[in-house]
Amino acid sequence: MKISTENKGQTASPPLRMRPLRSNDLPQMLALQADVYPPALLESAEVLSSKIDMVPAGWTSLAAVDGEILCAYAIGYPWRSDRQLCWNRPLARQHNCDVLYLHDVAVSPSYARQGIAGQLVSQLMQQGRQFGLANAILIAVAGAHGYWSRLGFMPDESRRTDPAFGARAMLMRCSLVPVPARLSGTS
Ligand SMILES: CC(C)(COP(=O)(O)OP(=O)(O)OC[C@H]1O[C@@H](n2cnc3c(N)ncnc32)[C@H](O)[C@@H]1OP(=O)(O)O)[C@@H](O)C(=O)NCCC(=O)NCCS
Repeated sequence: MKISTENKGQTASPPLRMRPLRSNDLPQMLALQADVYPPALLESAEVLSSKIDMVPAGWTSLAAVDGEILCAYAIGYPWRSDRQLCWNRPLARQHNCDVLYLHDVAVSPSYARQGIAGQLVSQLMQQGRQFGLANAILIAVAGAHGYWSRLGFMPDESRRTDPAFGARAMLMRCSLVPVPARLSGTS
């Protein structure tokens, strides 16, 4: 399914659209988070709120909405690669960032397998490129590394992950620099 980005000039909008994530999405985010993650991986409203707000000017995380229903969200923000990634801690404003940290992507089971997560991630990665970030990193939890491999992420064993992410957590990395067509084998 193709979802549209917010466009105030459109008169007839398609049912699903992508727009910036807002603080007033929090009640639906908490419900969606509880639907798709085990209890040990849930983050508080305060923490999620900080991750929406404590970002550089012009940066947004993303929501996919079906009318008033939050179908999916993707939280990502610029980060410093020399800093430890922490779970369930409020985000403070970061400086001298060099990577995009994809922190949390969640799709409601009713809207799964329609390519929504892929489109939200692709949009966040595009934003990361526009901010001059060369790589994206994430911690795959709850066995999701197979999903991220399909999007081009590779395991990064250079450092340990915070045990709070769970025993199966895996740090993964993907370049944001497009591979020139002549190197990728396409013409
Ligand atoms: C993982 C998730 C974000 C994918 O959302 P989605 O919109 O359904 O994803 P897409 O439609 O882009 O891709 C769906 C494909 O990914 C696969 N997939 C979904 N979760 C997967 C997982 N944990 N491991 C491997 N593959 C997975 C689906 O089987 C589907 O495969 P298909 O195309 O062969 O049918 C969603 O399932 C989710 O919210 N999961 C729970 C939260 C989570 O684990 N988030 C990631 C944390 S690091």
